[in-house]
Amino acid sequence: MDPQDVLNKVPIFAGLNRKHLKRLFKLMVPRTFKSGDAIVHERDRPAGFFVIASGRVDVVRGAEGANPQALATLGPGDFFGEMALFEGQARSATVRALEDTECLAMTAWDFRAELASDPEIAMAVLETVVRRLRELEERLSE
Ligand code: CMP
Repeated sequence: MDPQDVLNKVPIFAGLNRKHLKRLFKLMVPRTFKSGDAIVHERDRPAGFFVIASGRVDVVRGAEGANPQALATLGPGDFFGEMALFEGQARSATVRALEDTECLAMTAWDFRAELASDPEIAMAVLETVVRRLRELEERLSE
């Protein structure tokens, strides 16, 4: 994985120049997960924010219970883990690798600092979160 190459293709970072991408890249740590690994566990305290470099994950609510609810499937260029960081609350869902998956991870502290210092990133994250909410609402009303 060439992390700078990966960051270039992440829609929320699309407006950033090379220098900014380079700085961001230094804040991110590559993490590799095997198919089936839970990357984030529902109800855990949050530690980080993840961008998918390759592979696919699914987002499931109540994964351990009798009625697991699939919320979304995410792939390269998508991100997850932002909700608990925004709220300072536990993880809202479990995120599991559907295939071998490579991510770039950022600490909660760096994620918040990036959003605070760059309104373009903050807006792009917000747009995606709102779109996900709308998609979920549409599905619930079907
Ligand atoms: P977080 O709550 O930190 O951990 C679980 C993550 O799953 C959450 O952040 C979001 O990134 C993601 N997630 C939760 N609900 C949805 C949804 N409806 N669509 C897409 N992703 C979601």
